[in-house]
Amino acid sequence: MLSDISAFAHDCALEAGKILLEGFRSPDMKISHKGRSDLVTSVDRSSEDFLYNAISSRFSDHSIIAEEGSRKDTDGSYIWYVDPLDGTNNFASGLPFFCVSLGIYSRETGNMAAGVVYNPFIGELFSAVRGGGAFLNGSPVTVSRSAALQESILATGFPYDKHINDNNNLSEFGRFLPKIRGIRRMGSAAIDLCYVAAGWLDGYWERSLHPWDIAAGSLIVEEAGGMVTSWSGEIFDPEMSGILASNGKIHSQMVEVLSGK
Ligand code: IPD
Ligand code: CA
Ligand code: CA
Repeated sequence: MLSDISAFAHDCALEAGKILLEGFRSPDMKISHKGRSDLVTSVDRSSEDFLYNAISSRFSDHSIIAEEGSRKDTDGSYIWYVDPLDGTNNFASGLPFFCVSLGIYSRETGNMAAGVVYNPFIGELFSAVRGGGAFLNGSPVTVSRSAALQESILATGFPYDKHINDNNNLSEFGRFLPKIRGIRRMGSAAIDLCYVAAGWLDGYWERSLHPWDIAAGSLIVEEAGGMVTSWSGEIFDPEMSGILASNGKIHSQMVEVLSGK
């Protein structure tokens, strides 16, 4: 059953990816503002409409929570967390770091059961089913081996309300910067997590996120042998707004920096 769900999620991500690619750098794309820095494009909405219709027709008893407002509440076994376009700011500016993210949560086990993240521009499809490992385009991936923070490349992001929110991640960013090899701001939480899974990044932290940003990627990191928790090291839940993901070896060092001690 879970393998059917996961295979269907792959197909959906590939189809939604075509919608993203058709709209990318197109003069027909319409952009509107949800907040000062929080954009939504006509392509986010087309991708979400496609995904919502596809998932609800195939699995009518599953719940769906999608970023642009599509919701379906059932008492079925699974919840789909749908980000139809993660990295909208990149997409709207013509930068090729964006993806579709589909995370499937099991109410029975109380954790993420499957996840798919697809960047159609670069052609990278990351996937995982709990207990089955993590994959990039069908080949297994594992986290990096770096055990020293000063040898690590980390990624992070900043909240859309950064201009009015004191918890805008600047102090954490400032604490990490002198302690690490380098830092990246990719602009897609789902891609950040997949790059930790692939071993291309050693760790990632961010706050003010939503389940559709991190549900799929969190499982992909865990299945690649990494660790995903809250900032203080508690067990991860997709409803948490703060996330810390790493190769496991630098995790406690990252918790310490985030704690500000
Ligand atoms: C955003 C991206 C970004 C993160 C933001 C998210 P969106 O999602 O994942 O990297 O910093 O907090 O909201 O709006 O592009 O789907
Ligand atoms: Ca997102
Ligand atoms: Ca989005």
